[in-house]
Amino acid sequence: MGRAVDCPWEIFMTVRPGAPFAELLRSLRKAAFLTQEDLAHTARLSSRAISDLERGLTRTTHRETARKLADALNLTGSSREVFVATALGRSPASGAARVASGDAIVARSRFGGEPREWFSLIVTTLDELGVDAARSAVADWQSGGPVDAAWLSWVDALIRLTAEGRLPPVAGRPLPAAGGDPFLDREQQAADLNGFLDRIGQGRGGCALVTGPAGIGKSRLLVRVLARRTDSIQVEWMTFDRGEAGYQGWRRLLAPLWIMLRRTELAPAGLLAHAAILDSILLAGPDSELAGRRFPGEVAAAVAAMLVHVARRQPLVLVIDDAHRGGASSDRLLLDVTRLADACGVGLVAALRPEELDEDSVLADYCDQAAGRAAADVVTTIRVPPLDLAATADLLRERTGVRPPPQVAEVVLRRTQISGR
Ligand SMILES: Nc1ncnc2c1ncn2[C@@H]1O[C@H](COP(=O)(O)OP(=O)(O)O)[C@@H](O)[C@H]1O
Ligand SMILES: [Mg+2]
Repeated sequence: MGRAVDCPWEIFMTVRPGAPFAELLRSLRKAAFLTQEDLAHTARLSSRAISDLERGLTRTTHRETARKLADALNLTGSSREVFVATALGRSPASGAARVASGDAIVARSRFGGEPREWFSLIVTTLDELGVDAARSAVADWQSGGPVDAAWLSWVDALIRLTAEGRLPPVAGRPLPAAGGDPFLDREQQAADLNGFLDRIGQGRGGCALVTGPAGIGKSRLLVRVLARRTDSIQVEWMTFDRGEAGYQGWRRLLAPLWIMLRRTELAPAGLLAHAAILDSILLAGPDSELAGRRFPGEVAAAVAAMLVHVARRQPLVLVIDDAHRGGASSDRLLLDVTRLADACGVGLVAALRPEELDEDSVLADYCDQAAGRAAADVVTTIRVPPLDLAATADLLRERTGVRPPPQVAEVVLRRTQISGR
């Protein structure tokens, strides 16, 4: 497959002045045909560090890290100067300004005509030079010999979707900030949630429902627990908006994963059968109104296949905050996906208000204490109750600076139990 190429390819990449380091690192890595793991390995850094840099979660690096990355990317001369300066959060020095003002950085790649390398070349060409150039790169690929039909249709779809504006750049999605406020009395719930996350980290699956009324502290619990974890679970967080029923919230949650996958992997075998559905459900476009007419089972199978695929690299946890806003069809999808992706390092965490679930929601039973589901079920319910009297008094003291008399704490507790705050 593919042909031997006598001359090494040169990828010319224009570095926009002021382009963030995340963008620069990603384009240089791709131009060198390296995955994040490859780069991490060569630079002797963690994959997590590379991923955080590329997602903009870490904005600058230490000099030593910048040096390791520049070495791993084979950067020399002014390209290297620009790279290091950007990594350190400085404007490039005068010697490198030539590059920063629009000249090309040349990344000499180790191009050997392998399908994965052709794919990277086509994606880079698409980004840098546009649709026509990408199509002619595909033609070059084919001129070297027959190309697998699945690869071709994957690449054609990628180019078409890009031309239609349906594969926008994906931005990093940091978790909500944990904040420094005191956090009280959620030891049991935190332990339950940590236990659930430990199981996902070990490659098992499941769904955790974090339930309680508005303002009781569900989101705060999730943020707090997730912020303190040190394992390498990939976490994607999405808060469903009011009125965001059906697949709308799921689209915001999952589209970045699908876009990333479509652009970085060549036709993964397990996903080919699901690609058309994922395109139509997740990527806004002319046929996205079809989304509602898909069979729910078909959608769940496609979503589960994608999540399982992503989780093969690193355990994956999707957090859906205010999940009740998705309505009954979203609840059904949550449960179906959980069952299909069980035992694959995929965890779903949904924070929701049971009293706001639709009447026919499949999750209603799981929230209902009396229904008492079997412990072996894939769903773990973590109930968030009102704070107890001591914790309420502590909280009042923390907020007001005075220790409240017991009666006051009691009144506050009684009132807040009614309203949920
Ligand atoms: N355990 C806690 N200790 C201290 N403050 C809390 C705690 N739980 C929640 N809060 C505060 O109560 C408010 C509501 O909590 P939030 O997590 O948004 O509720 P929910 O997500 O259940 O609607 C927030 O200001 C939050 O910081
Ligand atoms: Mg909340």
